Amino acid sequence: MVKRIAILGSTGSIGKNALRVIESLGEGYEVAALSAHSRVELLAEQVRRYKPRFAAITNADFTEEFRGLVGDLDVEVLAGPEGLAEIAQLEEVDIVLTAVVGAAGLPAVLSAAKAGKTLAIANKEPFVIAGELLTQIVKKSGSVILPVDSEHSAIFQAMQAGKHDEVSKIILTSSGGPFRKMSPEEIENVTLEQALSHPVWDMGPKITIDSATMMNKALEVIEAHWLFDMPVDKIEVLVHPESIVHSLVEFVDGSMIAQLGKPDMCLPIQYALTYPARVAGIAEHLQLDELGKLTFEKPNMETFRALSLGYEVARTGGTAAVVFNAANEAAVGEFLAGRIKFVRIVELIEHCLNKHKVKRQVSLEELLEADGWARREVEQRAREHKSVRA
Ligand SMILES: NC(=O)c1ccc[n+]([C@@H]2O[C@H](COP(=O)([O-])OP(=O)(O)OC[C@H]3O[C@@H](n4cnc5c(N)ncnc54)[C@H](OP(=O)(O)O)[C@@H]3O)[C@@H](O)[C@H]2O)c1
Repeated sequence: MVKRIAILGSTGSIGKNALRVIESLGEGYEVAALSAHSRVELLAEQVRRYKPRFAAITNADFTEEFRGLVGDLDVEVLAGPEGLAEIAQLEEVDIVLTAVVGAAGLPAVLSAAKAGKTLAIANKEPFVIAGELLTQIVKKSGSVILPVDSEHSAIFQAMQAGKHDEVSKIILTSSGGPFRKMSPEEIENVTLEQALSHPVWDMGPKITIDSATMMNKALEVIEAHWLFDMPVDKIEVLVHPESIVHSLVEFVDGSMIAQLGKPDMCLPIQYALTYPARVAGIAEHLQLDELGKLTFEKPNMETFRALSLGYEVARTGGTAAVVFNAANEAAVGEFLAGRIKFVRIVELIEHCLNKHKVKRQVSLEELLEADGWARREVEQRAREHKSVRA
């Protein structure tokens, strides 16, 4: 049986790797649909090469330009966030690989889950903000969730060594990011260029900044809580700068099962697409004797306050996670635009969390309302701060 795959966010770092993986897998795997937000030329090139039946442009301002670029091809063009949600539930699609960045992926993830699709999840933010809602939908529709994030893929693989109630803890590893060894005083004045230079992984700008603040690890703790139905206090983070052990599961008898591999996203992407089978692929194999030693250390939760905030948010539940995520997305946007300093990102997140009155058992509308409030709050605070400095 051919697996027909939709890649939501095919022009991004995960999306491009996913296309390389599908191409290398060859027969049995087909690109059914692709999407981009605004990089129309790249999307048009991808459509020409991989011949999907459907393509979506989520930023409707670019739809006409895109239609012009693919006018000679047999592809149905969909527009806006609705177009993305439509692609995610098409009958012609078996696996939806979510590689959009941020909460913008939520409507499409909900749509795929409701339609009972197999979801290969790279886009962690929808799970962080609507984990409870998504879990309920998935249980009802029979949708299958396969993690793509390297840490969660590692945990997913390690979990297969025992039963759920035999797990004593999950250990998420982290490279520590570019500022791992810096003091708070040194971090105070880091530049955008430094923050965008990840020591190990080559990723999109938002997740690269999240790795520098360790917000990415905080989001991953919440993601793991929902994906593996694991209490937050059973999820630990260890800094592992070599990024070879992608994560571990400890069982009640004391055995630890880890998954190792080169830091290359093609491996977890491929496993999600071929699951439950394993096939030879393009990811380079590890040579253990060339590695020397592997090191692990506890994260500095004071310097990297985002991580401790992430644990608090996960314990609090309700709308805390949506505010945490939205404030971060808005603050990272301000930092990438050069309007705030790096250290202001986490300050703004903390400000929003302190000001927000958490609601529990919330509807999707209430989640989106909290999301919008946090974004506006960050933008306003960032502007105020700028005018004070000016
Ligand atoms: N990169 C990694 O190695 C990695 C590893 C683990 C998990 N993840 C997760 O995977 C997701 C994607 O990360 P990435 O690094 O691949 O990001 P990226 O390189 O920035 O790519 C993002 C993709 O989403 C599209 N997009 C941007 N804004 C959008 C919007 N408002 N609505 C719909 N689509 C939009 C982009 O389209 P345009 O190109 O047209 O802008 C692009 O195709 C994130 O959630 C990240 O946390 C990434």
